[in-house]
Amino acid sequence: MIYLDNSATTSPYPEVLESFRKVSETYYGNPSSIHQFGGEAEKLLKTSKKQAADLLKVSEQELFFTSGGTESNNTAIKGIALKHQNRGRHIITSQVEHPSVLEACAALESLGFRVTYLSVNHEGKIDLDELKRTIDGETILISIMHVNNELGTIQPIKEIADLAAKYPKLFFHVDHVQGLGKVPLDLSHPGIDLCSMSSHKIHGLKGTGALYIQKGTTLFPLLHGGGQESSQRPGTENLAGIVAMVKAMRLTMEKQRHSYQHLEKLSAIIRTALHQDHRIVINSPEDGAPHILNFSVPNFKPEVVIHALGKENIFISTKSACSSKHSDESAVLAACGWGEDRSHFGLRISLSYQNTEEEVREFCKTFIHVLDQLNNVMG
Ligand SMILES: Cc1ncc(COP(=O)(O)O)c(C=O)c1O
Repeated sequence: MIYLDNSATTSPYPEVLESFRKVSETYYGNPSSIHQFGGEAEKLLKTSKKQAADLLKVSEQELFFTSGGTESNNTAIKGIALKHQNRGRHIITSQVEHPSVLEACAALESLGFRVTYLSVNHEGKIDLDELKRTIDGETILISIMHVNNELGTIQPIKEIADLAAKYPKLFFHVDHVQGLGKVPLDLSHPGIDLCSMSSHKIHGLKGTGALYIQKGTTLFPLLHGGGQESSQRPGTENLAGIVAMVKAMRLTMEKQRHSYQHLEKLSAIIRTALHQDHRIVINSPEDGAPHILNFSVPNFKPEVVIHALGKENIFISTKSACSSKHSDESAVLAACGWGEDRSHFGLRISLSYQNTEEEVREFCKTFIHVLDQLNNVMG
């Protein structure tokens, strides 16, 4: 099997599965129980938090474990909106955010908040001047993703954070789900108040994630309950999942340090091969994240191509699910200003450090072969 859908999810590292099994077996006590067994679980929870905080270069008090990217995004956006609505009820985001951001914003609109959806250029990048012009006295939150999940576009997070830092009333949330372990992000920047992460995109397990909340930033919690995670995210902690996530973070971040060029090389191989075929247009920017490559093959239905590749045991994907009004259209490609010839025919390859040169070469060969075959069928 050649798995090139790593932005959808990744295979858990064997070490991650081993940690999960070991913790589930050995530390199944409830960290809130006052007996020693619970105490041991609590100690492991604290150690894990310290390790994760160290890896992310933030303080332990600033890190909160969640069930994943969707929960982190919802907690950040709704949490800021509900807590700080007395200061203003305006939120700024972009048209190419993940549905967990867009839908959270839409939900707030139904409660009377005003949301500005920034436009993007052909490469999926927001315009800083438009952002500046959009901020007004009512703005309480900017939520912009680091790496776009469909295109790999990297947004100018530092510049946005510099700008946000000039407005004391305004919070800045970064959806870092696709950037973690691939594209560095400096969470110590004073302008970044909140940052979402997810474990299953970095070879951890589904149902675990984290939200960085800068010291001094307060949120209305999404959940209420037993006071865990400083009452910011109550509920008995998924200790085994958390330990597994921290392991996945450490392993992935080590790979990021040593193998980043590997991803760049794989991406360049695919880009060069696809570029040579006149039927294919590449949508991802040259300076995007190295693990995501989006392209369109006009008139070749993505589902048909994916199905044909699946028969060859090769797995890639199309637009993210439920992100467009029209079932065939990629809302992200449409927002980039591309017509139907591109936005209805988008495909995405997403790589992991585990993919090899042989795999991507095999993909390129098979992909062109599949297009030729489909061409014949289509006449
Ligand atoms: C950019 C981005 N944000 C958020 C999410 C949601 O993360 P999760 O699947 O952990 O809920 C995803 C998942 O694809 C994503 O790509």
